[in-house]
Amino acid sequence: MIVLGIESSCDETSIALLKDGKQILSLVTHTQIKDHQIYGGVVPEVASRKHLEYINPLLEQAFAEAKLKWDQIDGIAVAQGPGLQGALLVGVTAAQTLAQLLKKPLMGVNHLEGHIYANFLAFGEQIEFPLLVLLVSGGHTQLIEMTGHHQYKVVGETRDDALGEAFDKSARIMGLGYPGGPEIDALAVNGDAKAFDFPIAIPKEPDFSFSGLKTSVLYKVKDLKKQSDELPLANLCASFQKAAIGAVIKKTFRYAKAHQIKQISITGGVSANSYLRAQLKQIGQSQNISVFMPPLSLCTDNAAMIAACGYYQFKDEKVPKKIEIYPRYPIST
Ligand code: KG4
Ligand code: ZN
Repeated sequence: MIVLGIESSCDETSIALLKDGKQILSLVTHTQIKDHQIYGGVVPEVASRKHLEYINPLLEQAFAEAKLKWDQIDGIAVAQGPGLQGALLVGVTAAQTLAQLLKKPLMGVNHLEGHIYANFLAFGEQIEFPLLVLLVSGGHTQLIEMTGHHQYKVVGETRDDALGEAFDKSARIMGLGYPGGPEIDALAVNGDAKAFDFPIAIPKEPDFSFSGLKTSVLYKVKDLKKQSDELPLANLCASFQKAAIGAVIKKTFRYAKAHQIKQISITGGVSANSYLRAQLKQIGQSQNISVFMPPLSLCTDNAAMIAACGYYQFKDEKVPKKIEIYPRYPIST
């Protein structure tokens, strides 16, 4: 079964053609990071306009790269939320138009579920249930127990900032560019994680909280600026990362142990973080827990994960529901 995936929920326009939920025939993405960088964050109107500009050329490119004709697809999957309303509208309208023209079934996909299915795309049946999913992106931080396909129980979430948001805001405090996550990750490689002690709140298990950490970074940076114009960025980044990532790792493994879950997956933009990946691998091995992490190309927003999620929904014969846009669209439990 060949599924056309369409993603336009935030600042990436992405189109994929995916065979049988696992073989990427083509994946083309235009990222708008440069267009938003000068504003220090995503500007919704700019995002919609850029999606509109890129969606048709990307669709044509995806079919050309996959060497497929338009009517050779079996279904279309589109991200219908959560995300920016105007941005989502571009992808959903394109999907509806194609579905009508080509007379193919259309499936709406929750963008967050899409992130989760990046792992099913990469590892397929190697993943068994129950599975503990750590979803860490720019807008969400959740610990989710999956008992089967599309069966979710949210067992923990952030009380304030999302993990990606904490990276982006702390990076901004340190004078780094947007998005801050990759910048902190790269700088931290050469830093000493013990240089600064950033306390992190550990609220009642298994929730998360990152706003206090961001405030400690702010005070530390103000303090350091009094001493010198040049910040010890590598040490700041490594110490921040140790605190932020340390907290999510601790809670994830604690929950897995308490509930005897032997499979963990991570997903969302922050799952690209090299320190998080290294730590998870090491602790997973020592505790005999299998850890699944998407390849870096599937960590941030992309249409292949949307197509994969759509594929499993088609396979489950989930009735395609009315395609609407849901700017707020929590994972339903
Ligand atoms: O999942 P995503 O692409 O978009 C959302 O749906 O939010 O995640 C974007 C987030 C941003 O906050 C970005 O700073 C963070 O993922 N991110 C990282 C890394 N790469 C992206 N955070 C830490 N380390 C990275 N290597
Ligand atoms: Zn995302």
